[in-house]
Amino acid sequence: MLFFPLFSCYDVKKNKDTEEMGDTMKHIRKIREEYATPFYLYEGKIISEQASILKETFPDFDLLFSVKANPFPPVLRKIASLGIGADAASAKEVELALEAGMAPENIFYSCPAPTKEDIARIFGKCQFIADSFHALSLFEAEAAKRGCIAKAGLRLHPNFTMDGKPQGPSKFGIDEALVLDNPACLQEYPHLSVNGLHIHIRSQVLNTAQLGQYYKNVLELALRMQHILGVPLEYINFGGGVGYAYDKTKQSPLDMKILHDTVTSAAKAYASQLSARLLLESGRFLTCRCGTYVTEIVDIKRSHGKTYYVVKNGSNGFFKPVLQQLFLSHLPENIGITYEPFLTEHDDYNITVLSESKETETVDIAGHLCTGADVLAKDITLPKASIGDLVTFCNAGSYAYSLAPILFASQPAPQQIFLDEE
Ligand SMILES: Cc1ncc(COP(=O)(O)O)c(C=O)c1O
Repeated sequence: MLFFPLFSCYDVKKNKDTEEMGDTMKHIRKIREEYATPFYLYEGKIISEQASILKETFPDFDLLFSVKANPFPPVLRKIASLGIGADAASAKEVELALEAGMAPENIFYSCPAPTKEDIARIFGKCQFIADSFHALSLFEAEAAKRGCIAKAGLRLHPNFTMDGKPQGPSKFGIDEALVLDNPACLQEYPHLSVNGLHIHIRSQVLNTAQLGQYYKNVLELALRMQHILGVPLEYINFGGGVGYAYDKTKQSPLDMKILHDTVTSAAKAYASQLSARLLLESGRFLTCRCGTYVTEIVDIKRSHGKTYYVVKNGSNGFFKPVLQQLFLSHLPENIGITYEPFLTEHDDYNITVLSESKETETVDIAGHLCTGADVLAKDITLPKASIGDLVTFCNAGSYAYSLAPILFASQPAPQQIFLDEE
């Protein structure tokens, strides 16, 4: 008979649904019997739940998963099985998406500055989106070399912003005026046929009205672009933006019903003029909730009155707390959005210690790297823990493993474990 000890879990910020947390903790205890720490646990059931919410909110759209958020192959296979395509930011991400079973017509490659080699590698394996005139030239040269006319989308840097403030410069995309005020510029690419529009100006938007207005602005721009092209656009990629309320005590989630109604009626209003496929990119909304990072206390040190719980692979397993401390101690408040995904404005994970003790203790949680910056929490009060107890971080399914400096000090990297729904 399997025996699972009853740990007292301490959820520092108490913003994760207790029942869900209970399921995750059950899985973690089971996994720990077979696997060494540290590990990332990804739950397929949660990906399905998040995908259903997006599909219900955006019934007229095809979804694309931003692979950069979590390129773990079983996660990608799960996403492919839900009929979701890929937003790929590198040639490797295109290959991962193909290996996961996604079809080339559902893989959209949009890299801020692809090289000639990248283009040769992805050609014919996905839909290409050019982020600059130089990228168009590279794609043109590859098409000419292969003696074909290739389709290319354009990522434009639009004049509108998410919050209605004046637009500024950007390293992403081509300024809309450079194309719309001078359509002749596209004639320089005789081996290309421009077939799609891509816009992405911001991640992690939690203002429903702003996001709704953004989708209308994209549709309006698409119509203008179609007009100068003189042929129907094949797709309009609205990019990302759908935010996730990580800390529901501080953030209100998007109102998906209002978003659904706004987007659906906007899509209907343009349907007679735009027959394009509508695409929506999402990384964090699809996967952040599905992941938990699990590590273990390997030492407890006391120095000048402070207690340190030292864990295996602290920041070289889960980097977000360190990034947060670095950014917030050196930059003014409310700058988070600009620094996504390195920094999310609000605390975007919970720390839980699985300890059998009823006593509490105020401690720092530090990692085992040779840097004083390797601290995951400062002065937090937790159930008194012992060496060998587990420490978990939730909301670790996106921008977590892929952001951690796992090569530092040549410590073994955390394992990744995917648990699909039965
Ligand atoms: C072009 C583009 N699309 C989509 C996303 C995904 O954003 P999120 O994970 O917030 O959904 C990103 C994130 O960096 C992005 O750069």
